[in-house]
Amino acid sequence: MSAGNVARRVTVAEIARLHAEGIPIACLTAYDHPVARILDAAGIPLLLVGDSLGQVVLGYESTVRVSMDEMLHHARAVVRGTEHALIVADLPFLSYATPEEALRNAGRFLREAGVGAVKLEGGVAAVPAIEALVRAGIPVMAHVGWTPQSLHGLGGRTKVQGKDRAQARRIVADALAVQEAGAFAVVLELVPEQLAAEITRRLRIPTIGIGAGAGCSGQIQVITDILGLGTFIPRHARRYADLQNVIADAVRGWAADVAAGSFPGAAESVRMDDAILADVLGTGALDRPDLDAPIPLDRDL
Ligand code: KIV
Repeated sequence: MSAGNVARRVTVAEIARLHAEGIPIACLTAYDHPVARILDAAGIPLLLVGDSLGQVVLGYESTVRVSMDEMLHHARAVVRGTEHALIVADLPFLSYATPEEALRNAGRFLREAGVGAVKLEGGVAAVPAIEALVRAGIPVMAHVGWTPQSLHGLGGRTKVQGKDRAQARRIVADALAVQEAGAFAVVLELVPEQLAAEITRRLRIPTIGIGAGAGCSGQIQVITDILGLGTFIPRHARRYADLQNVIADAVRGWAADVAAGSFPGAAESVRMDDAILADVLGTGALDRPDLDAPIPLDRDL
């Protein structure tokens, strides 16, 4: 394949162009090859290998348990399954506690998985890490408001952030700080819609909302929530399919066919030339049928 035929991936410049043109940016999480392939073919421009992986794929109770190796494993699969989307990988808990660690781990995502950008949680406090990454040429998506990795520090329960004055001021300051540090976009999670709309109005970079109302520059959802694959549906999500029941019906149908002996059928089986089989078994027309004789092995022939 010549270099001219290589599929071109969405870049952060493309995301900035969508934003400048006022086109809402639809982003989704992806964790594996088959789903990433479908989302990519459907034209979703930005796929996040979120550390929500921990809960929705790996069965952990929070994102805090997710390791860098687990994130890399899934980021590689998503990159391999896509040709067009910008793939953003979440830096997991404590993997960017210092700018040096942020650089080392983000570098692994780019070099070992082939993603195009990383995401990290935090506003003012995350500025040193964001600046170091941007200086090194690594595009950064920031994440403010409800930041799941701070679950324990934020009271242990998922909660809308920014309803009171102090929190609202902090979130505005966080959003401005990550923009000035060089982030190309910022996720606003679980923030009242008026506050999110006002932050969006004040920022030059796109805001990507999740539970932050319709006034953001784009939206992101956890793919298992909109496909109906999760164990519960968060209030901010809308179910566009009921794959849990689709899958359950499909496997019940398959198991019933196995039980009835109708799977596999002719279409799912291969046949061989009966004469060759007879030859192998020594039961051909010229053979004396001796059904108790062992099947001759190559060394006996
Ligand atoms: O990990 C994740 O899925 C996220 C989204 C909720 C933005 O961070």
